[in-house]
Amino acid sequence: DKGNHRHFMAKEIHEQPEVVGRTLGHYLDMSSGHVALPFELPVDPATLSRLTICGCGTAYFSALMAKYWFERFARLPVDVEIASEFRYRDPPLDPSGLTIVVSQSGETADTLAALRCAKGKGQKILAIVNVASSTMSREADVVAPTLAGPEIGVASTKAFTCQLAVFAALALAFGRARGVLGAKEEARLIGELMAVPGLMAQALKCESAIEGLAREIGKVRDVLYLGRGAAYPLALEGALKLKEISYIHAEGYAAGELKHGPIALIDGDMPVIVIAPKDAVLEKTISNMQEVAARGGRLILIGDENLARDFAGEAEASIIMPEFPADFAGMVYAIPIQLIAYHTAVVMGKDADQPRNLAKSVTVE
Ligand code: M6R
Repeated sequence: DKGNHRHFMAKEIHEQPEVVGRTLGHYLDMSSGHVALPFELPVDPATLSRLTICGCGTAYFSALMAKYWFERFARLPVDVEIASEFRYRDPPLDPSGLTIVVSQSGETADTLAALRCAKGKGQKILAIVNVASSTMSREADVVAPTLAGPEIGVASTKAFTCQLAVFAALALAFGRARGVLGAKEEARLIGELMAVPGLMAQALKCESAIEGLAREIGKVRDVLYLGRGAAYPLALEGALKLKEISYIHAEGYAAGELKHGPIALIDGDMPVIVIAPKDAVLEKTISNMQEVAARGGRLILIGDENLARDFAGEAEASIIMPEFPADFAGMVYAIPIQLIAYHTAVVMGKDADQPRNLAKSVTVE
């Protein structure tokens, strides 16, 4: 049932404040300000020397964002692996270590093979999955569910942000267990997490601005997405989302890589979408935005009102996000990224729910 939406994808984008809130509520004790994992971890995070995370597609990008959180809040080195690469590499893994697999379906062939590969090397497995009855759920030592509900659109949206919610809670739990985060810091970060669903609801209000933007993006051949820090995985996710449902060629880049190659592409045709939450690296992202503007590029920015004001002269369009502490900005900034892809597909007359050549769950290699 699509409710009053044209596509499941639209419905699923709009469900995010609710399902992310539900998922966070499963892992956080809101009243005490502590993480309250609903299971026992299969390893003591204090003894870990590194963490491996495997996934494919959008799930892989959620893991890439999680790396920033585990490193920052738990000082834990993290290897994020594309499952199809990991499984064939004979990766050296510590037999007392932990591998996290992340998958909406819990059936993706490559991710399942990565799970078995890590398990075969003695690693404990934690599976972040949305389908509770899936093969990965059965084969993992511990299951951390995303409570997104059934995701029908082939393009993953609410499963992605719910994966981020689980990762955020795990990173804080690991940070506490490793003595990196004090109780006060934990409570402050949990306060920020609890604000995320409301901020997502606010972010959804940018939809009409995005509908206008989508009419422009629907006319182009290529789009570049830039982000720094935790916004870099979101740049990759934005490009994947646009490619898969609108068939427009898009690339995501770490903003700092701009001058190492892609800057040569900047011209008056290709939109450059910059994801710029107010985080510790915003100043650096701003210099990349200036580089794009100085070369006559089509700058489209996703940021707060202050940033939009500063770039009013240079930006072709600004998608305004609420102002908030940026530790978990990725969950909120995912919304405009998803809406851009969705509305571009719709204006181009593409089937956003059933893109060509793609299956919801990739159970063969
Ligand atoms: O079910 P999974 O999360 O394991 O699926 C992984 C990818 O196939 C999936 O995220 C794919 O990239 C989506 N179509 C992206 O929107």
